[in-house]
Amino acid sequence: MKAVVWHGVGDIRLDDVPEPKIQDRHDAVVRITTSAICGTDLHFVRGTVPGLAQGRILGHEAVGIVEETGTGVRNFRPGDRVVVPSTVACGVCSYCRAGYYAQCDNANPNGKQGSTTFFGGPEAAGGLDGLQAEFARVPFAHTGLVPLPDSVDDASAILLSDIMPTSWFGARLAEVSSGDTVAVLGAGPVGQLAAVAARLQGAGRVIVVDGVPDRLSLARDQHAETVDFNAEDPVEAIREMTGGIGVDRVIEAVGVDAEHPERGPAAVGESEKRRFDEEGDLAAPVQNPDRHGTWRPGDAPSQAMRWAVDLVAKAGTIGVTGVYPPHADRFPFGAAMQRNLTLRMGNCHHRRYIPRLVSMVASGVLDTTPFITRWADTEGAIAAYEHFDRREQGWTKVALDTA
Ligand SMILES: NC(=O)c1ccc[n+]([C@@H]2O[C@H](COP(=O)([O-])OP(=O)(O)OC[C@H]3O[C@@H](n4cnc5c(N)ncnc54)[C@H](O)[C@@H]3O)[C@@H](O)[C@H]2O)c1
Ligand SMILES: [Zn+2]
Ligand SMILES: [Zn+2]
Repeated sequence: MKAVVWHGVGDIRLDDVPEPKIQDRHDAVVRITTSAICGTDLHFVRGTVPGLAQGRILGHEAVGIVEETGTGVRNFRPGDRVVVPSTVACGVCSYCRAGYYAQCDNANPNGKQGSTTFFGGPEAAGGLDGLQAEFARVPFAHTGLVPLPDSVDDASAILLSDIMPTSWFGARLAEVSSGDTVAVLGAGPVGQLAAVAARLQGAGRVIVVDGVPDRLSLARDQHAETVDFNAEDPVEAIREMTGGIGVDRVIEAVGVDAEHPERGPAAVGESEKRRFDEEGDLAAPVQNPDRHGTWRPGDAPSQAMRWAVDLVAKAGTIGVTGVYPPHADRFPFGAAMQRNLTLRMGNCHHRRYIPRLVSMVASGVLDTTPFITRWADTEGAIAAYEHFDRREQGWTKVALDTA
């Protein structure tokens, strides 16, 4: 079968690989009909999240049809349409039963202190092959698959695999409640849907910050207020918009590949640039950008978190969904402490939110289709990665038609 395979930093290829097989009686094999490329995948190719094995199949977002089930899978049978949660969880341990699926005690072969287990990630994250492929093996399939009604087609379901649950989780982390003014940092797919989630959870105002004009325009399509950090200082602009107070809640949807402004009043000076350069070298010791600037890591790993601390109101809450590698340790702790901030973060407990999000889509409360801005077929997957990596106009979210 064809699959997107990680060969090294800056080196991904479309390869022919063997089809997966059932290895454990709780496994299922799923024929993937739609997959997608995520900002998390970019961290692996840029080198800001390390530790993938050469030959690892990438991808952790998929909709498909159950092909085969192990004898321990009682709730699915071949032919069932499903969405696959990105993180893998056993459904048995106390963490899973409390809804903390991303901290499952049993999913990671590295043991209880191993990190969140997900498809197509580093060895530390379980070393599982991913979902940008024609077939995938899903462990603990009784928990690791969510059924789809016929009324929810692939285009409506694919963002329920990772992006929408993460955005929903981000708004929960940020403690969004009725009337709140919420800033969303990052207008990639997670940021776009965090604006949707914040609204559905009661936000009164949503302000989206990014430096890419067409992504800000997509946010304005859903009537978010927007701030372009290359045109305005986002901290000053948001203070001005909020009566000098700042926002009640921040959802950080950027992560370690954060950028500093290139121009405008918030452009960084020499000493700040040096600090960010040093952070960048720590974040991505191995880098391999090409001559077009593809696979270039972000130039200011802590920029989004620094703004989050500065633009939130005193005693406000920051929910962090952006991914930072385990060795990222630059955060303005003192400033956050002095302002009585609450900081909550983590990998999404996908399985906790997906069933209700499926119901919301089926009932028409939620429509994620406007946020898929491009479709590519398997043959075009690597080119699609490159357009998405360079944040080219119109390439905010790419779904892959693997059928
Ligand atoms: N916690 C989870 O479980 C989980 C799940 C999915 C994705 N993620 C993470 O969420 C983040 C966003 O994912 P995505 O798919 O939307 O990625 P993306 O790369 O498409 O989007 C990131 C956006 O942030 C913008 N940006 C860069 N620097 C910024 C800054 N200083 N301030 C504001 N915006 C800035 C970029 O221009 C881009 O539009 C990534 O870090 C991804 O790994 C986390
Ligand atoms: Zn993802
Ligand atoms: Zn578990």
